[in-house]
This record gives sequence, C-alpha cells and structure tokens, in this order.
Amino acid sequence: MSKIKHVAIIMDGNGRWAKKRFRPRIWGHVRGSSVVSDIVKSADDIGLAALTMYAFSTENWSRPLEEVSSLFKLLKKFLIKEKARILDNNIKFKVIGETQSLPYETISLINEMEELTKNATGLKLTFAFNYGGRSEIVRAVNSFQLSHPDKLLTESDLNGLMYRPETGDVDLMIRTGGEQRISNFLIWQMAYAELYFTPTKWPDFTPREFKKIIEHVSCRERRFGNVSHQGDLGDSIEKAENHKTAFVERAKH
Ligand code: FPP
Repeated sequence: MSKIKHVAIIMDGNGRWAKKRFRPRIWGHVRGSSVVSDIVKSADDIGLAALTMYAFSTENWSRPLEEVSSLFKLLKKFLIKEKARILDNNIKFKVIGETQSLPYETISLINEMEELTKNATGLKLTFAFNYGGRSEIVRAVNSFQLSHPDKLLTESDLNGLMYRPETGDVDLMIRTGGEQRISNFLIWQMAYAELYFTPTKWPDFTPREFKKIIEHVSCRERRFGNVSHQGDLGDSIEKAENHKTAFVERAKH
C-alpha cells in the first residue's frame, strides 16, 4: 500500500491557462473547479486518508473584486453540486482558514456541509479558503497562551491546535502551474512532505497525472533524517530519541 496518506495541492495556473485561450481569468477558475471535482473523486478512489486543496489564500484578496467574488461563487456552486456525492461517499468535509470574513451565505453552506459530514469516516477533504499558514500558527500559539499561561508550548501541543489536527502531517504536496514555491500553505504540516511541482496548469490536470505522481513519489524513499528507513515519521522520531538516550548514557560511563 502507498505510504502517501495526506496529499495537499496548490492549484495554480488557472489565469495563464485562460489567457493563453484569450479568455478572462475567471474562465480558468471555472474550468479549474470542475478539475477539483475530478481530483476529489480520484483521491477517494485511490483510498487517500486526506486531501487538502488551496482554493483561496489570504493574499488572494488583492485580486480584482470580480475575480474574488467568482471564487466565492465557485465554492458555493461546488458545495451545492457535490453535496450528494460527498454524502454518498462518506467524505468528511471541512474548510480551514478565516471563514468568518466570508459572505454569510457561503459560511452557512460550509457549516451545513461540515455538520452533515461530521461523522463520516472516509476521505478527509479540506478546502483552505481565506487561509494563510503563518496565521494558522500564530492563532494556535495565541490560543495555547490563553489557556496555559504558565506552560511552555510543545510540538505536540501545536499539532493539536492546527485548524484540522486529525489530518496530520502532509506526505505529498503537489503544485501545478510550474512555480516552485509553497506560498504559505500548511507550512507547519509540510515539514517532512515530499514536494512535486508539475508544469501542467490546473485546468489541464487530470486524475491520470494525479495517480502517476502518487505512484512516482511512493517509490521515493522517505528517510526523515535517517540513513535508510522503512517506517513513518513517528517511528523515526522514536528511533532518534532512543539513540540519543543510549548515546548520552554511554557518555556517562
Ligand atoms: C491559482 O491560479 C488559483 C487560485 C487562486 C484559485 C484556485 C481555485 C480554483 C481551482 C477554483 C475554485 C474551486 C472551488 C471548488 C473552491 P491563478 O489564478 O493564480 O493562475 P495564474 O498563476 O496562472 O495567474
């Protein structure tokens, strides 16, 4: 079985895809949103545990208002169009980010979908919307300080305070559109992620390419700082801790 359980995607290239076809950028987002449906279906078929997609960053507010509002509309349309499929396929849906500043109608559709799928046990599908990785960390640290004013924060505390702790670390991040950046996306969760950058623009991205990337990356050896390793990050941390203790003990004698 593939060791890739959680895939994160930066869906880039919609604007350039549309421009190449002498169409407005929004047209690229519209085509892009039908690719979102295809890739969610594919992730479910493959049996991934989690799929997190970057749909709107906090920086995206700087785009023309018409484009911003089209992205909100596409989210709304997706939730309406895909509702039955999400429910039928036992998908657990969540939006991460500063959702309170989204239009009321969008918030209520998100809430409805999250509530309807809260007991689902299948694919954990997350849309990052009005999301920024640094602000997710700052929010978590502030919340910890408020509840534990006298305690030092640990990595495990911070893991538990992320927007969606149950999805855990990202195993593979795919960015379409040819740029090689992580753009403030899941920066805490991506510490050990494999990164894959494809020149394919998001509207041209297919389930076939998605599966090929996962197969390709599954063959890469993930060592987590070790020399050669078969297990996961947890095994590696435990092994490192045991070696450190043994080393310190030996040095005492
Ligand atoms: C980046 O392309 C893409 C986005 C900012 C938005 C991604 C959104 C979608 C794929 C559609 C939304 C769908 C749902 C279901 C929420 P870009 O416009 O920056 O492309 P460019 O780099 O070519 O200009």
